[in-house]
Amino acid sequence: MSDYDYDQYMHELESLEADFPEFLTPDSPTQKVGSDLKSGFVQRAHKYPMLSLGNTYSIAEVEEFAARADKILESGFSYCCELKFDGTAICLTYEHGVLKTALTRGDGQKGDDVTANALRIANIPSRLHGDFPEEFEIRGEVLMPFAAFDALNEERSAQEEQPFANPRNAASGSLKLLNPEEVAHRGLWCTLYHIPSESLQFATHDDSLKAAASWGLPISEHRRICHSITEIEDFINYWDTARKSLPYPTDGIVIKINEMAAQRTLGYTSKSPRWAVAYKFKAEQALTPLLSIDYQVGRTGAVTPVANLDPVFISGTMVRRATLNNEAQMRILDLHEGDWVYVEKGGEIIPKITGIELSKRTPGAPEPRFPSVCPDCGTPLVKDDDGARWLCPNSAGCPMQIKGRILHFVSRKAMDILAGEMAVEQFYSAGLVRRPSDLYRLSRYQLLALEGWQEKSVQNLLDSLEESRKVPFSRVLYAIGIKLVGETTARTLAEHFGSMDALIAAGKDELCAVPDIGATVAESILAFFASESGRQEVEDLRSFGLQMSAEAVSGPHSNVLEGKTIVVSGNFAISRDDMKELITRHGGRNSSSVSAKTSFLLAGSKPGPEKLRKCSELGVPVVSEDEFYEMIHQGRPAPAADTEMPSLF
Ligand code: IVH
Repeated sequence: MSDYDYDQYMHELESLEADFPEFLTPDSPTQKVGSDLKSGFVQRAHKYPMLSLGNTYSIAEVEEFAARADKILESGFSYCCELKFDGTAICLTYEHGVLKTALTRGDGQKGDDVTANALRIANIPSRLHGDFPEEFEIRGEVLMPFAAFDALNEERSAQEEQPFANPRNAASGSLKLLNPEEVAHRGLWCTLYHIPSESLQFATHDDSLKAAASWGLPISEHRRICHSITEIEDFINYWDTARKSLPYPTDGIVIKINEMAAQRTLGYTSKSPRWAVAYKFKAEQALTPLLSIDYQVGRTGAVTPVANLDPVFISGTMVRRATLNNEAQMRILDLHEGDWVYVEKGGEIIPKITGIELSKRTPGAPEPRFPSVCPDCGTPLVKDDDGARWLCPNSAGCPMQIKGRILHFVSRKAMDILAGEMAVEQFYSAGLVRRPSDLYRLSRYQLLALEGWQEKSVQNLLDSLEESRKVPFSRVLYAIGIKLVGETTARTLAEHFGSMDALIAAGKDELCAVPDIGATVAESILAFFASESGRQEVEDLRSFGLQMSAEAVSGPHSNVLEGKTIVVSGNFAISRDDMKELITRHGGRNSSSVSAKTSFLLAGSKPGPEKLRKCSELGVPVVSEDEFYEMIHQGRPAPAADTEMPSLF
């Protein structure tokens, strides 16, 4: 359902309940905030309930909000208009300038404690500066900027994992990952917009945000103090266009009464403040005919229906295709051949079909038939384990799956081999390549015989194959294409097990003990190594000299850290990933959390306060960056050019 439809149903329910209060029950969705609580986190009570905001899509209703405030408030007041950030709400508590807890909204009364994850969000300061209060709460939004969202979805698609539908879902899913290390890779950002307090004496909301910015907290500068409905409208109209060039998602404007005394007079309903309202932008929609449906077979055999549309311009880009996800989605939409469909982009980056214009349906138009056999190799399709997708079971013989696996293997994030779709098609058609390892068997003579290949292009390919032998083990693990093992999971596994052999030897319990590896991923890993083809491929790749262990990475290495489990925290002269690689190269093991088994905490500048506390509690030594370089007999690398975090807001 689109956000717009959801909000319309909610408003309809609200007005029905107003007309028929006898049917209003305490568990009505109009009476509470939806819950996002998730198992695996400690829940903590909010000091002040975390409420939602009344929202509207109409300027007339913003005018009504202003008129109501005017009527209740006696003295003059102003409005603070801000962007409505489209992410997931967070509540931070600072004590003595140190981040103490980060809670999600949860059910509004209690939230999940995601402090360890919040500390991995680049612009959330673990320590404040300036004249901050001894203890206070500040609330805001955790966001996924578009660039990070695109990168994440690209990775998920390459992995044939369901991509996130929009940056909001991606932000809330990422904030709730059980492995904080993985959160660090997701590129989340935070912006803060509300200090709930009875004791802090700010005259206006705007003053409170200015103060928070002076303590080093991330506060958006895109706000304006307005004195009339015309000024509010100008702000709304300006941002309806300007927001399209912001690097992060927004879905409206929040209009707040600026004076704190006036806010106190207006107070709250059970669900939202009476001193604020959200004006929401309508997602851009277009109506266009469905031309045809393609059924694409991915490298894991999943068949995905994709709608080909009559090209249409939405939110600055031409939309030609929209995913239909699976057969169930086609049913829910009640799609018929030749239908005119509503396509929406809004917060969603992947265009989606949100509805059908029934008045334009040709009478008797048939429903599209989901194929019963693989569109590529003709093998009868089967349902996957959870019954959501159709699969081509012919993984060994289906050309699309074979080519898909090779394309995945050569891709930039995997082995980074100079071979595109055309080249892979040629190698396949000529019968030269059926498995990734066949690429290393290609001879200059065979390549020169292919159409369009010259001495130079052949040399480039051979050079990139040679280079790929140095690609680190974690990427080799990603490249071999174990189902559900994406780039991040491969990195986690490589770090945890250290070598292909250790991973092959691991049982289900050992796999499940790795943070963020669940039973399904563990089973997929076990199935891959149990299969004759999987094992054979790994052995062939090994025989061609690919990296099969983390220790074998090129560069100076030693065993001075052998048997040591090390936790890194804070910023270093080199990136944190490089630091971890350095540890592995010298025989050490990386771990994400401090425990009695930790040999030492390697602390850069601004180490996590929680980690430091744990170290002093457990008597774990803390080693500085320079002490560490001494330990591995290496000088300090040249500092990175710019370690300051750029501000997005
Ligand atoms: S003020 C007491 N300001 O939108 C409520 N909320 O749909 C204080 N949101 O619950 C919230 N941008 O999670 C506020 N500039 C902004 C916001 C904002 C986004 C979120 C927030 C809120 C939700 C309502």
